[in-house]
Amino acid sequence: MSVPTVTKKPAKKTTKVAPKKASKKLKATPASKNDVKPRLYASLVVQLLSLLKGEHDFIANAANFSALLFSSLPNVNWAGFYFLKDDELVLGPFQGNPACARIPMGKGVCGVAAQRVETIIVPNVHEFPGHIACDVASNSEIVVPLFDGERLIGVLDLDSPTIGRFDDQDAEGLNELVTVFVAHEERLGP
Ligand code: SME
Repeated sequence: MSVPTVTKKPAKKTTKVAPKKASKKLKATPASKNDVKPRLYASLVVQLLSLLKGEHDFIANAANFSALLFSSLPNVNWAGFYFLKDDELVLGPFQGNPACARIPMGKGVCGVAAQRVETIIVPNVHEFPGHIACDVASNSEIVVPLFDGERLIGVLDLDSPTIGRFDDQDAEGLNELVTVFVAHEERLGP
């Protein structure tokens, strides 16, 4: 049974398997496979900044942010927000199938991530006690908390039909994106 991975600050990438001796052909390859996700997330930061530029409305920006993730990240069947209201997570802008509107703190992957104020990667949602199944196609999940300064304001949730879809590179990239998103909202003020 695989154990859900919990990371408060995304850990640096760990190489688990010693690379094979590089052939001449491999040496000629310009970018390694490990660059693919960081490059994608770097490009998403640029695209997110462009989408946010000049727009003041929080809901409009959150909606475009979720659409950007859903349309750009491979093997993702749900991407969106839950915002903290009266000690409960309430559904915000998202892309994907209709989802449960409210999640109590400490319940499901989102509620646990919110309660622990930690990024949670779940390689197999069917092995996560209390997982809330909104889409039967979902097999793995990542939840990233959003902060306004020190204050938790909600979570970003992504689901995938692929077991083990999310890793530390996704955690790092998504944390950077939510930091950019919240910093934009803070700069503009209420
Ligand atoms: N699976 C989540 C519920 C939200 S949906 O995935 C959109 C959870 O366990 O908290």
